[in-house]
Amino acid sequence: MREESIRVSPEEMEAQRRFALDFRSLPGRPQTYHIVTYGCQMNAHDSEKLAGMLEEMGMTPAPTREEADFVLHNTCCIRDNAERKALGNVTWLKEIKKDRPEMLIGVCGCMVQEPGMAEKILRQYPFVDVAFGTGNIHKLPELLFRAADTRRRVVAVPREQSTLIEGLPIRRESPFQSYVTIMYGCNNFCSYCIVPYVRGRERSRSADDILREVEALQKQGVQEIMLLGQNVNSYGNDVPFSVTFPRLLRRVSETGIPRIRFMTSHPKDLSDELIQELAENKALCRHLHLPVQSGSNPVLAAMNRRYTRESYLEKVEKIRAAAPDIGLTTDIIVAFPGETDRDFEDTLELVKAVGFDSAFTFIYSLRVNTRAAEMPGRIDPAVATERIQRLIALQDEMTQMRFSEMIGKQEEVLVTGASRRSEKQLTGKCSRNISVNFEGSADLIGKIIPVKITAASKTTLKGKALE
Ligand code: SAH
Ligand code: SF4
Ligand code: F3S
Repeated sequence: MREESIRVSPEEMEAQRRFALDFRSLPGRPQTYHIVTYGCQMNAHDSEKLAGMLEEMGMTPAPTREEADFVLHNTCCIRDNAERKALGNVTWLKEIKKDRPEMLIGVCGCMVQEPGMAEKILRQYPFVDVAFGTGNIHKLPELLFRAADTRRRVVAVPREQSTLIEGLPIRRESPFQSYVTIMYGCNNFCSYCIVPYVRGRERSRSADDILREVEALQKQGVQEIMLLGQNVNSYGNDVPFSVTFPRLLRRVSETGIPRIRFMTSHPKDLSDELIQELAENKALCRHLHLPVQSGSNPVLAAMNRRYTRESYLEKVEKIRAAAPDIGLTTDIIVAFPGETDRDFEDTLELVKAVGFDSAFTFIYSLRVNTRAAEMPGRIDPAVATERIQRLIALQDEMTQMRFSEMIGKQEEVLVTGASRRSEKQLTGKCSRNISVNFEGSADLIGKIIPVKITAASKTTLKGKALE
């Protein structure tokens, strides 16, 4: 079956494990590592797998980049500034390496997978020792072994990313919140976006593999999982006879895991079946991230989003009717090529009409080789800045409105740690994914407890623990 044919073979995974074990006895090999992660949850979770492999290789984490024997940059290239930041930090290490020539520097992640980037690294970044793409992270043991053994540069970036990698060791950041990937890649080709080029086509993991992973996490006492995919609503479309995403959610909740989140939902594929599941399945958190990108139909069409302002608003209405307690959040791009004042006003109106809990807002950033890069009507940067400021100001008002509606309510909060301000102050996330701060003792960390919301600040809620 197709699913079997794209999976990295057990023999290959075993070969990598052998490289990991051999690495342990390599003379003069690096002992400590530090991973610098940029970008989205996908990358954060990949870093947990990279750390898992490095520890299998006998390495231990170093607290800072400067002290580490091996520094790995897991990069993002979604916008120009993300890319510049990553490259700037790689260059910064060059100076440190002058004093510590034995240090090894690695670069991986989405940026490396961009066409031409491997050549650029070879040419312009001679101090980078290891580089690999998102499609072959499982090869880290072999690549690092070669670099440490020969002291020669090793650059390996697969052209095609059609593989599904199962069975990597994972060093998870939190004992009670875990990421679980359900699918890799993206088929949507939104005209502004580089992700389909650097993450390859959609590949869904099998439901059995996902369930096995969740069951193990549930047994370890994990309280909340976040199912990851660029477009979780098309889960299974690439595999014959696969379960649908709502069905997968049902099966995941049957493991008994207390809380389930997922990222990201594409509005065009949000089905009535999913809305019903959100209404009925109480393990699903009361939060839906539904990126709208723009409130203008001509812009949505140019973005290749394949829904309209009206169909988006209709879906929002359906969600609100079926599950009124769900908080919605979104992503918005301003100053897309050709965006007129009228188009932008349509976005503001949509933001007002929906009343999102919060929004990630971005100025359009040109990505080479994407379709939007060729589009006419570039927006003046001063206009773009003014638009994003107006949008942020409006969303801030909406956030205040939503937050103040929650005052007096009782929320279930997963306590994630002490707040930055004081030890007695704890912080956590309510089911709607809003941060809640309250007083309590540290033994509540990792538990889900009832909290009464008493006040709202600009980005967080304040509350009183009821336990
Ligand atoms: N798969 C997710 C989004 C991944 S990227 C989805 O479709 O919703 C996260 C966000 O970055 C996008 O939602 C979009 O708002 C923003 N983004 C992507 N490419 C961009 C670009 N070229 N310029 C500005 N923002 C961009
Ligand atoms: Fe990019 Fe669109 Fe795919 Fe999201 S759905 S990753 S915005 S191409
Ligand atoms: Fe994520 Fe950035 Fe890659 S947003 S998928 S890390 S380009």
